[in-house]
Amino acid sequence: MKVLVIGSGGREHAIVTSVAKSPKVDKIYCAPGNAGIAALAECVPIGAMEFDKLTAFAEEKKIDLTIVGMDDPLVGGIVDAFEAKGLRVFGPRKNAAILEGSKAFSKDLMKKYGIPTAEYAVMHSPEEAREYLKTAKFPIVLKADGLALGKGVLICETPSEADAGVKELMEDRKFGASGDEIVIEEFMTGPEVSVLSFVDGKTVKIMASAMDHKRAKDGDQGLNTGGMGNISPAPYYTAEVDAFCKEHIYQKTVDAMAAEGRPFKGVIFFGLMLTPDGPKVLEYNCRFGDPEAQVVLPRMETDIIDVMEACIDGTLDQVDLKFADNAAVCVVLASDGYPVSYEKGFPISDLDKFDGKEYFCFHAGTKFDEKGTIVTNGGRVLGITALGKDLRDARAKAYAATEWVDFKNKYMRHDIGHAIDEV
Ligand code: AMP
Ligand code: GLY
Repeated sequence: MKVLVIGSGGREHAIVTSVAKSPKVDKIYCAPGNAGIAALAECVPIGAMEFDKLTAFAEEKKIDLTIVGMDDPLVGGIVDAFEAKGLRVFGPRKNAAILEGSKAFSKDLMKKYGIPTAEYAVMHSPEEAREYLKTAKFPIVLKADGLALGKGVLICETPSEADAGVKELMEDRKFGASGDEIVIEEFMTGPEVSVLSFVDGKTVKIMASAMDHKRAKDGDQGLNTGGMGNISPAPYYTAEVDAFCKEHIYQKTVDAMAAEGRPFKGVIFFGLMLTPDGPKVLEYNCRFGDPEAQVVLPRMETDIIDVMEACIDGTLDQVDLKFADNAAVCVVLASDGYPVSYEKGFPISDLDKFDGKEYFCFHAGTKFDEKGTIVTNGGRVLGITALGKDLRDARAKAYAATEWVDFKNKYMRHDIGHAIDEV
C-alpha cells in the first residue's frame, strides 16, 4: 500500500520509520518531510496546512492511508477534508481535535464527566480575569485557550505577574486569537508523565509511558521548549498509577467524547501530573508527542498500519497492542539559543552511524542545502534515541551516540532521565 505522512519533525521521522517496517507498505510519501525522512520516504513540498493540495496529491497518487502527525492541521480540520474526498486518513476529525484545540473545551469536558484535573475558571475578557485574580491563590496558572506552540502557559507567582500575563495573552494577543479566552487554573505539583494511546471512537489502548523534559536547561531550569529529551517507560508510572488512570481517566475521556457526539479516532496524548492527591490531567493532545514518539514507537512491536487501520475501522478491541520489555532514551540535539533565537544552516557530520535497530537518529530540523549537504534547519535539530535492556542502559547508549554527530552550536541537556536515579 501507499502511505502519506503529514509533518516535518522528529515525530514524523519516527512515524515514517515505524511505517517503513510494515510489510504491507510499498511506498511512503511525506509532506513536507525533512532531510532524514527523505531516506525512507519521497518528500513532497506541500505544507501541512495546504489541505486542497494535499487531498489532490493523495487522489493523484492513489494513497491508501494518510497519517497526520501535527496538531495544527488536525485542529484545522484536515481529516474532514480528506474524508470529504473519500480518502482514508488516521487522526481525529475537527470536532474531536478540539480536545487539544481548546483548553476551555477540555477543562469543561473533564469537569462534566468527573475526570480528575486542576480547579479552573474560563475567562472571556481581561476585566473578568482581573476581577477573578483579586481573590485567587498564588502561584496560579494562566493558559491561552487555543494552540500556542506549547508556549501559552504562564505560571504566575504574584498578582503583578498574573496581571502582566493577562495583558500578554488577552490584550497584547501574543498568541493571537488563542488568547481571546483564557483558562485560569490551580497550580499543581508532582512529576509529569506522558501517556499516548490509540483510540477508535470507543476503545482505548495505552502505549508505553514516557517522560518529557520540557525545560531548556539542566536541572529543569530555563524556558519551556517543545521537549529536550524523553525516556520510556516513565519511572513514576507505577502499576498503581496505571490502574487509577485506567479507572478514572482514559476510558472516561473516550466515553465522554463519544457522549458529546465527538467520537475520537486517532492518538490521544494524556499529559498527566502525579500530584499528592493522585494523578490529574494537565492537558490533552490529539496526536503523538514530540519527542515522545521517538521513544515510544521504537518500542512498539505491533505493526503500526494494523493499529491505525483498526482505529479508523472501529476494531481496536481486536488488536493485541504490544511493546517490547525494554527501555528507550532520546536526547535532543538542539541549536544553541533554542527556544529563543538560534542560527541555522550548519552542516551536520556523521549521520550514517545509526543502525535503526538499537540506535536511531530522528531528524527534527534538518534540510538539504543547494549542494545536497544536510544542514541544521531548526531549534531542535536531531533526536538521538537508543534502546537498552533498561533505562540506565538506554541512557548510557543514547548519550554515547550523541557524540557521533556534530554541528556548529550543538546544544543538549546532560541530565535527560534524571528521574531514573530518583525513583
Ligand atoms: P500544558 O501545555 O497545559 O501541558 O502546560 C505546559 C506545562 O506547564 C506543563 O507541562 C506543566 O509543566 C506546566 N503546567 C501546566 N498546567 C499546570 C498546573 N495547573 N500546575 C502546574 N504546572 C502546570
Ligand atoms: N513533548 C510534548 C508534546 O509533544 O506536546
